[in-house]
Amino acid sequence: MSFMSKIIGIATILAALFAPAFSVNGGQPATVQEYPFLAQLTIHKPNGHTGRCSGSIVAQQFIISAYHCIVEPDFNDTYAIENTLVITRTNDAYNGSSTDGIVHKVERFYHKEIDGYYEFSAEKDLLIIKLTEPIEYNEVQKPIVLDGKENLKLNDSAIFAGIGPLPDQMADIFREGETNVIALDQIVYQYNESIVQSGGGDSGGPFFSKVNDDWILHGIIHGGNIIPRISYFCDWIKEVTENELNC
Ligand SMILES: *[C@@H]1O[C@H](CO)[C@@H](O)[C@H](O)[C@H]1NC(C)=O
Ligand SMILES: *[C@@H]1O[C@H](CO)[C@@H](O)[C@H](O)[C@H]1NC(C)=O
Ligand SMILES: *[C@@H]1O[C@H](CO)[C@@H](O)[C@H](O)[C@H]1NC(C)=O
Ligand SMILES: *[C@@H]1O[C@H](CO)[C@@H](O)[C@H](O)[C@H]1NC(C)=O
Repeated sequence: MSFMSKIIGIATILAALFAPAFSVNGGQPATVQEYPFLAQLTIHKPNGHTGRCSGSIVAQQFIISAYHCIVEPDFNDTYAIENTLVITRTNDAYNGSSTDGIVHKVERFYHKEIDGYYEFSAEKDLLIIKLTEPIEYNEVQKPIVLDGKENLKLNDSAIFAGIGPLPDQMADIFREGETNVIALDQIVYQYNESIVQSGGGDSGGPFFSKVNDDWILHGIIHGGNIIPRISYFCDWIKEVTENELNC
C-alpha cells in the first residue's frame, strides 16, 4: 500500500504541474452554504505559476489540506508561508480578486518530515495550516469535526469536494461527488472511481459524511482514489498543535 500510494502521490503532483487536472469529475456543484467548512489555497511559486488546492476549516485558526500542495524542489516552508493564501466563504475559484471570498494569511504549517520532493506517501500527506487571524464563524464559515472514531466501514458512502478544474477548463467552482469505500487499511481509504474521480486542484479537499447532525472529516484527497485517514493522524495532530486541535 505505501509503495502504491507513493507512486500515486507523485503522479498527482506531476499532473498538477504539467497536465490538465481533473476535478471531482462526474460530480456536481458544491457550495459553502451547504458545506461551510470548504476552503481553497493558492500558492504563488517562484517560477511565476500559481498552484491551487482545496482544504477544510477545522477550527477558528486552523485549516487542513494536503502537504504535497506546498512542496516543490525549489522552495521551502519559509517561502510557502509567505506565498500561500487561504480563501473561505466563496464557491468560486479565487483569481486574485474576489467579491465574496475572505482571504487569510498563513502563520505557520505543521507537517511530517519528508526526505525529498519525490518521497510522497499518503502517510506523510497531511498539512495543518495555522492562520494569522481567527476565522469569524457564520452560516458560510464553520468548522468540520475531525474523525477520531466514527470511521467509515467497507462500502459506506461519503462525499468528497474540491475546486480543481474539469478536463479542458479552468478551475471555476467547488464540486462534490458521493462514492463508496471499496478498500481500507489503518492509513487510507480507497474510494470507488467508477462514480467520480479527483484531480490536481482537489488535493487536500475533504472526504466527509454527516453523522447525526455533524459533518465529519474522515480524510483528505491525496491523489488517485487514495484518501489518507484523519484517524491515522489524530495523535500527531494533537501533539504538534499542543491540543489546540482535537479529534
Ligand atoms: C527558500 O526558498 C526561496 C524560494 O526559492 C529561496 O529564495 C530561499 O533562499 C530559500 N530559503 C532557504 C533557507 O533555503
Ligand atoms: C475573478 O472572480 C470574480 C468573482 O469572484 C469575478 O467577478 C471576476 O470577473 C474574475 N476576474 C477575472 C480576471 O477572471
Ligand atoms: C456498495 O455501495 C455501492 C454504492 O453505494 C452499491 O452500488 C453496492 O450495491 C454496494 N455493495 C454492497 C455489497 O453492499
Ligand atoms: C462502484 O460503483 C458502481 C456504480 O455505482 C457500482 O455498480 C459498483 O458496484 C461499485 N463497486 C464497488 C466495488 O463497490
